[in-house]
Amino acid sequence: MINTLPSMNRYCALITGGSDGIGREFALACAREGYDIAIVALPDPQLATTVRLIEEAAPVRCFSLGLDLTKAGAVEKIVDWVGQKKLAVRILINNAGLGYTGRFEAMPPSQLQNVITVNTMLSSVLCHALQPELFRNAPSYVLNLSSIAGTMPVPYYAVYTGTKHFVYSFSLALRQEWKGRVAVSVMCPGPVLTNHPRHQRRAGHFGFWSRLITLTASEVAQIGIEGMLQNEGLIIPKRVNRWVIRLMRTLPVRLRLRILKKLFIKLKDDYRYEPTRQPSSQGLNAEALVMRRDEE
Ligand SMILES: NC(=O)c1ccc[n+]([C@@H]2O[C@H](COP(=O)([O-])OP(=O)(O)OC[C@H]3O[C@@H](n4cnc5c(N)ncnc54)[C@H](OP(=O)(O)O)[C@@H]3O)[C@@H](O)[C@H]2O)c1
Repeated sequence: MINTLPSMNRYCALITGGSDGIGREFALACAREGYDIAIVALPDPQLATTVRLIEEAAPVRCFSLGLDLTKAGAVEKIVDWVGQKKLAVRILINNAGLGYTGRFEAMPPSQLQNVITVNTMLSSVLCHALQPELFRNAPSYVLNLSSIAGTMPVPYYAVYTGTKHFVYSFSLALRQEWKGRVAVSVMCPGPVLTNHPRHQRRAGHFGFWSRLITLTASEVAQIGIEGMLQNEGLIIPKRVNRWVIRLMRTLPVRLRLRILKKLFIKLKDDYRYEPTRQPSSQGLNAEALVMRRDEE
C-alpha cells in the first residue's frame, strides 16, 4: 500500500472514462493501493455499477461524475466538482479516448471532432486545469493513455494515430517541465481486449498477430499503475510491442508506411458508429475471449 493516510484526508485518483474497460481496471488498481477514486464517465447505469464494484473491492470512497466529455465546458465541470467534493487529487489518469478504423472520409465530421476533443484537448487542458491541485499534493502522478499506434502513422487509423501521437509527445515534454513535482508518464499499449465489439472485431482480423500482442484490460492497468508509481516516463506493456516499435523506427519512413498500409487496409471499410459498450446481456467477456482464442 502506497497511501496510508486516514480516510478523510486520503488522496484521490481521478480517472476519465473510468466506468468500463481499461479505465475501470485503473480505478480498481488505484483503490487497491489505498487511493480514493473519482471517476468521470458517460452518465449511464454502468457508472453506478462500477462505483459499487470499487467500494466492494477496497476500503476507499468512490466518487463519480456523469459527463459527456465531448461537450463544451467538460473540463470546467470536472474542476468545479473536484472543488465541491474537496478531493485531494494526487493521481490523474487521462484514460478516456475514442478511435475508429476505416477510411478517413467515411467518418462523419462530428465524430472526427469528438475523437480530437476527447483524445487531445481534454487530456492536455485537464492537466493544465488540475496543475495547482497536483503541485499542492506532490509528489503526484499523471498517466496519459496513448497507444502503440501513437508511435507510428497508421493508414486507415489516421485521426486516432495522430491524436495519440499528440498524447505521446505532449506527455514526454510535460514530464521534463514538471520533473521533481509531478511524475508524468505515457502509456502505449498494443491491442487490449475489452468488451467493445470494435476491439473484438480487430482481434479477429489480425488472428495470430493479435494473439501475440494483445493484453487484457486488467493486465494493462496493473502494468500502467506499477510503471506510473515507479516514475517510468514511457510505459509500453509486453516485450513484443517494444520490439515492434524499435523495429519500425529502424525502417525508412516510406517502407514503414507501406507495411502499415498493407496490414491495415483490411480495416478500410471498418468505420461504423457503435455505442461504447456492448450490452452485458450478450455475456461477452474479454478475459474469456483471450482464453478461448489461446485454446484454438
Ligand atoms: N482497447 C485498446 O485496444 C486500446 C489500445 C491502446 C490504447 N487504448 C486507449 O486506452 C484508453 C481506454 O480504452 P478502452 O478500450 O478501455 O475504452 P473504450 O471501450 O474504447 O472506451 C473509451 C473510454 O473513453 C470513455 N469515453 C468515451 N467517450 C466518452 C465521452 N463522450 N464522455 C466520457 N467518457 C467517454 C469511455 O468511458 P465510459 O466508461 O463512460 O464508456 C471509455 O472508458 C483509450 O484512451 C484508448 O485510446 C486502448
